[in-house]
Amino acid sequence: MRKKLLFVIIITTVLPLFVFTQTRTEINLENNWKFQKGAHDNAYLISFNDDKWEAVTVPHDWAIYGPFDKEIDKQEVAISQNGENSATEKTGRTGALPYIGEAWYRNKFKLPEFNQDKKVIIVFEGAMSEPKVFVNGQKVGQWNYGYSYFYFDITDYINANATNTLAVNLSNNGMSSRWYPGAGLYRKVRIVVKNKEHIKQWGTFITTPFISKNQAKINIKTKVEGENLSLLTKVYNAEGNLVAQDQTKSIFGDEIEQNIEVINPNLWSPESPYLYTAITELYSGDNLKDEVKTRFGIRSIVYEANKGFSLNGKVRKFKGVCLHHDLGPIGTAVNKSALRRQLKILKDMGADAVRSSHNMPSIEQLELCDEMGLMFLAESFDEWAKPKVKNGYNRYFNTDAEKDVVNLVRATRNHPCIVMWSSGNEVPDQWGKEGVKRAKWLQDIFHREDPTRPVTVGMDQVQATMESGFGALMDIPGLNYRLHLYEDAYDTFPQGFILGSETASTVSSRGIYKFPVEQAKMKQYSDYQSSSYDMEYCSWSNLPDDDFVLQDDKPWVIGEFVWTGFDYLGEPTPYDEVWPSRSSYFGINDLAGLPKDRYYLYRSRWNTNDSTLHILPHWNWEGREGEITPVFVYTSYTSAELFLNGKSLGVQTKNNTSPQHRYRLMWMDVKYEPGTLKVVAFDENGKVAEEKVIHTAGKPHRLILEADRTPLKANGKDLAFVTVSVVDKNGIPCPTAINQLNFTVKGKGKYRAACNGDATSLEMFHKPTMKLFSGKLVVLVQSLEDAGNIELIVKGKSLKKGYLKLNSQD
Ligand code: GAL
Repeated sequence: MRKKLLFVIIITTVLPLFVFTQTRTEINLENNWKFQKGAHDNAYLISFNDDKWEAVTVPHDWAIYGPFDKEIDKQEVAISQNGENSATEKTGRTGALPYIGEAWYRNKFKLPEFNQDKKVIIVFEGAMSEPKVFVNGQKVGQWNYGYSYFYFDITDYINANATNTLAVNLSNNGMSSRWYPGAGLYRKVRIVVKNKEHIKQWGTFITTPFISKNQAKINIKTKVEGENLSLLTKVYNAEGNLVAQDQTKSIFGDEIEQNIEVINPNLWSPESPYLYTAITELYSGDNLKDEVKTRFGIRSIVYEANKGFSLNGKVRKFKGVCLHHDLGPIGTAVNKSALRRQLKILKDMGADAVRSSHNMPSIEQLELCDEMGLMFLAESFDEWAKPKVKNGYNRYFNTDAEKDVVNLVRATRNHPCIVMWSSGNEVPDQWGKEGVKRAKWLQDIFHREDPTRPVTVGMDQVQATMESGFGALMDIPGLNYRLHLYEDAYDTFPQGFILGSETASTVSSRGIYKFPVEQAKMKQYSDYQSSSYDMEYCSWSNLPDDDFVLQDDKPWVIGEFVWTGFDYLGEPTPYDEVWPSRSSYFGINDLAGLPKDRYYLYRSRWNTNDSTLHILPHWNWEGREGEITPVFVYTSYTSAELFLNGKSLGVQTKNNTSPQHRYRLMWMDVKYEPGTLKVVAFDENGKVAEEKVIHTAGKPHRLILEADRTPLKANGKDLAFVTVSVVDKNGIPCPTAINQLNFTVKGKGKYRAACNGDATSLEMFHKPTMKLFSGKLVVLVQSLEDAGNIELIVKGKSLKKGYLKLNSQD
């Protein structure tokens, strides 16, 4: 019988003596996996012989090794979200990589700590897709949605003191996605062995319902199982000091609730991402039975009519980007150093928020956003009951949506970075009465599971949602594009604010410039690239500057999430219908993570700590001598003077004649002559504040290698991203070079992948050779498990080779 007596003690000085017993063991199943594509009838059996299968580590994405093939998932469709009425052939929509089909993973593991008093669960943080899980020849469960976190209790299937065989079957249908979904066990798989008396999976929920300068109330609800239980929770600050603790024996049903006071709290924000840790100890009688560590932040979020969004009492607007889950050249296999690099680039740009479009984020990404300070909009679905693609989530919506949302919330709700949920993106259910009911139903599930955060939907059918009541019922009306409807939506909807849940969808290719320079929709060129003058967009979208106007002029617009922070695999608009385009052009950064010009446009506005002064285009235009070659400057300064070979081309000042003139400095009549282009920026007093110079480069001469970081961790998975560029004999970058390069890694590291950001390249990322694109590419070097020196050697015909020494440490 559970004790119902209320018994709360705040212990400040003396800790009671408890007898220590083994609590929980967590095993991250990274190694010893065997993998094989195809249907294998008996692969779930213990006796199945997998000796000949490929040995892999997890996270693993089986499709990223290609080859690219235009026939893969070729879709004869009309994309109605893009305003198309008749079907045409779409290639590369899902990345032209072989993600379709069935595959098996097998792993043999031992649990020496297992006995009859233990409970064993297996946790998947995503498995693409339709995972069926077998332990020791028996099916323990299945899940459908490839982006969901889920777990099964496998206690009854475990062999004590013997080897256990885990087999996972996955299968992906064609026509199931609008982007590259990846394939396989692409996120962590863990086994947790705990006592019969334990804290339940995702059983801790920490909120901070009261915050003042001197005091914060930490509310912790913990779901537990067992008899004669009590809970001791200790709160540590970021420096590791114990700042508060509480012990209680009162249990209501399976839940223990604690309210703990933290004095003089340090608040979490993007500028100061301060984290606390709660260690919750579960006792049965005097015996310690379980222990769970939960990192959390103390912060308040408020969304108010006409005031907008406030974090810790201060109004601010989201400077956010949307991200797909693939990590470019390594596909969808989650990797913390790749994610950390992305977020570092975004932080330097001044971004303060990320939207996980259009599905559950990886836990690693949330951990990093907590630590590095980025707010998070965690999304769940791209489809509800009505399809966008034939085999999409519509097949599971009615049966699975509730449990998928429940797991999303329970697995991630303690991350302070999450400030909003999204129940859907541009769902066709925006049309019709059923959709209104679904929107309410889903929002209520989010509210039930987490009463502290609001819910949005990225809405593109704004007119329909104004008429049906769909938009009015959402906590946060999110508009995807449709700038012309912002005012109307604000007037019509009762919330008193509008979020730009998805904005811009401007397209560009890094380092590629097209002439004449003019605004254009769905513009196509024979090289299948888009111009980096940032003047091209889609039929449904707009230029960044158009969003900036609304963000700056309308106090009721609470921020934006730009489509997208980085290019991603699949969805090669405006080249959906032509081969070999296979990845997006939408990124502010390219697929390799290299900044496009647009990066500096956003940085000039968003990064308020550092100045920005960036010139485009490059200045290597052999054959364009005397021709009009406009020069743009993206800068945080208001005015600047441009000089070509020492001759002034005049001063430009930001002004209100057009959105572009308001946010960019543009010299439209420059006639190209080779040499030196210099921009001199002025401060508010008209004094010279900063200069930037670019030169016409000569022939490619030698290779320059720059790593994002060293030392690496000698853990077999850490990555260094090495930018390789080619310069002429004077050290000037060659912006049009396309030399073929070869890579060799020696010592305690290995070559993992390369990427040049060219959306039309069919070179495979994992092969140690690739062409430069616009003079650059990125090589990923991975650490081994032993520490030591690592060397990267890059060679190209007629080029002085590049050499870089890195190292790794334990
Ligand atoms: C939006 C959609 C995104 C992406 C984008 C491209 O409508 O939500 O997933 O397709 O368009 O512009």
